[in-house]
Amino acid sequence: MKPKIAKKGPYVVDLEEGKNYHWCACGESKNQPFCDGSHKGGVFTPLAFKPDKGGTHYLCGCKHSENKPFCDGSHNKI
Ligand code: FES
Repeated sequence: MKPKIAKKGPYVVDLEEGKNYHWCACGESKNQPFCDGSHKGGVFTPLAFKPDKGGTHYLCGCKHSENKPFCDGSHNKI
């Protein structure tokens, strides 16, 4: 089963160092790029991560990155 493509490109977000975030892996969240619980009942679960650095990050919007939760340019291939 494939995730829904929430956006064909990254979400540019300002994150805090060491804070716990939950990246939406299913693509169904209304609060992209973060999980809002919409995955419930499906096969996907959110990815918890803590940024090493604070500041601007590019989080995957197409949900096909090989380097989740970060954008790796995979949106250009789908
Ligand atoms: S809403 Fe997509 S993983 Fe939770």
